[in-house]
Amino acid sequence: MHMKLGPVPVLVVSSAKLAKEVLKTQDSVFCSRPKLLGQQKLSYNCLDIAFSPYSDYWKEMRKVSVLHLFSLKKAQSFRPVREDEIGRMVAKIQALASSSDRVVVDLSEVVTDLATTLICRTAFGTRYDERGSERRRFDKLLRDGQAAMADFYVSDYYSWLSWVDKLSGKLARLDAAFKNLDLFYQELIDDRLDRNRRKTMEEEEQEEEDILDVLIGLKVHSSDLTWDHIKAMLMDIFVAGTDTSIASIIWTMTALIKAPDVMKKVEIRELIASNVK
Ligand code: HEM
Repeated sequence: MHMKLGPVPVLVVSSAKLAKEVLKTQDSVFCSRPKLLGQQKLSYNCLDIAFSPYSDYWKEMRKVSVLHLFSLKKAQSFRPVREDEIGRMVAKIQALASSSDRVVVDLSEVVTDLATTLICRTAFGTRYDERGSERRRFDKLLRDGQAAMADFYVSDYYSWLSWVDKLSGKLARLDAAFKNLDLFYQELIDDRLDRNRRKTMEEEEQEEEDILDVLIGLKVHSSDLTWDHIKAMLMDIFVAGTDTSIASIIWTMTALIKAPDVMKKVEIRELIASNVK
């Protein structure tokens, strides 16, 4: 059954035979995500990977990302950053747990700090002071962006009711989130280009490239890419790389706390203790 309520078509697949047709035989026809307002706006009209429809562009961006951003070599090059941040997190938990007033450790908060700091360091080489104003700005940008992206917009289903989104203030919130994020990406790019211009050859050779360097390199060497493509990719990394890791760690820890036998088996304490000196 196929229903077209508004911009988002709804397809109901009600038999195993049809499910195979949709999910296997005709997969390339059906695998693109629906174009939802929030995602479209924040991904510069789907110039990223996550929301780009299945196309040659998506294939090319994935190939480039696998080769340059998510290669084993690149992942290993960030190992010292991961070890440093995990060490800091464990030290923080230890200090909180052994303080005389026995404070309760909010694991969600600690893990959110960890994931956000890791993304900032690997994506653009900055370690914000966890309670500083720049970090608060980044957290707010991410929170507002994610909320605007995941929000429910009536116009996604009934285009003739788009005035409802305007009246409720949702469109204004989406626009503001987009503008603030766009300004943030632009500042990151301008700062980096400026720094690169002042760098000596020797410094260039010595420095490990972060994700922003890789993306800028791609833009400089490809006449097909615009800065909007690079900003859309940055959005993917910030949005896809924070909440996902946070939720995974929190759920894993919750499951382990509920299963002390398994907790013992994975020997997580010993493993961390031997890595963090
Ligand atoms: C534990 C952490 C993570 C989980 C559970 C997770 C999960 C997922 C899932 C379920 C998808 C959708 C796949 C699909 O629908 O085909 C996805 C896509 C994606 N993720 Fe992650 N992710 C995690 C971490 C990350 C990180 C750290 C980054 C970037 C730094 C990232 C970047 C992406 C991108 C770019 C896509 C889109 C890929 C595409 O459409 O081809 N993810 N992730």
